[in-house]
Amino acid sequence: MSFFRTKILGTGMCYPQRVFSNDDFAKIIDTSDEWITERTGIKRRRFASLEGGEFPSDLAKGATEEALQNANLKPNDIDLIIFATITPDYRLPSCATILQTKLGITNQCAAVDIVAACSGFIYGVTMAHSMIQTGLIKRALVVGAEMLSREINLEDRASCILFGDGCGVAIIGRNEDANDPSEILTTKIGADGTGREFFQQEYGGSANPFTPEVLQTSARFMAMQGKEMFRVAVRTLTDISTSALEAANLKISDIHWFVPHQANIRIIEATGNRLGVPAEKVIININEYANTSAATVPTAFHGAVKAGQIKRGDLVLMSAFGAGLTAGSLVVRY
Ligand code: ACO
Repeated sequence: MSFFRTKILGTGMCYPQRVFSNDDFAKIIDTSDEWITERTGIKRRRFASLEGGEFPSDLAKGATEEALQNANLKPNDIDLIIFATITPDYRLPSCATILQTKLGITNQCAAVDIVAACSGFIYGVTMAHSMIQTGLIKRALVVGAEMLSREINLEDRASCILFGDGCGVAIIGRNEDANDPSEILTTKIGADGTGREFFQQEYGGSANPFTPEVLQTSARFMAMQGKEMFRVAVRTLTDISTSALEAANLKISDIHWFVPHQANIRIIEATGNRLGVPAEKVIININEYANTSAATVPTAFHGAVKAGQIKRGDLVLMSAFGAGLTAGSLVVRY
């Protein structure tokens, strides 16, 4: 069986219009810009309109249109949509099928949502990469999109300030040009289900459906054990990044850019220090957009491409961890 090389053909991002600053939070809960900035690195985030037009599939449409333009492709060139989200527009149908219609795709391409929390984009790229490598498909759209503002518990001031809404996408495709060095070199994904209680949302599923009583309480929202997540995050991000680099036969000093999941600036700094990545090689957007779960890695990557930091030919390490606990890492030559 022959294997095809794969590459990132194009990327895009889209955020809701509404900016919600730390000072805005200080008006509704007992907190301050100083506390949030110092503990998390976050200054502001975007919150989607509850009126519609900015649901995850809407943001994904905007981000995909940008990616298609960058890749010089048409919607019907996409053979597969993988939509990573923990906050889909609806329980049924999937965001991926809704997005297919919104993009005007008529080729009946496969479309599926995946739930891997903040590692969702890296899981999605890994799946797309393997299917393109083996020749099953030629091009895949991988989306990370969230509307976490719907799921935050305003009674828990240590967690509600961490999250935001947004979307980042990448179109992955075959690279059949032997003279083009762009390539997804290695991917690593994994999970440790024993860490489930560190970050979960217990209600709203089959085990604990919403009841009128639950809907009256904050039990319906996301709940996180911040200190435990912090500790596990640094270790997991370091381990999975090291493992992806080893599989690519590369050293950390070979890497031009590190694009980590944007959960907390102190997690990013601690991981960078452990890996030995100089601060100037680390891409950060948490200050502007907070933690957008599956959207942090693709938006940080796209933002850096757009700003002229990450260039074609650069070696990039992308790593994420999230609820589950899940983790993933990619090494790509962009
Ligand atoms: N404003 C002001 N004070 C606050 C706030 C707030 N928003 N939140 C908590 N505090 C107070 C607490 O009440 C506590 O006060 P006390 O000492 O008088 O009791 C004090 O600040 C310290 O609270 P801690 O919870 O110990 O604060 P910590 O330093 O652990 O920071 C934080 C909390 C920012 C949540 C940190 O634990 C963290 O970043 N954890 C990791 C979060 C994370 O990575 N999540 C990833 C999610 S996974 C994913 O992305 C899917």
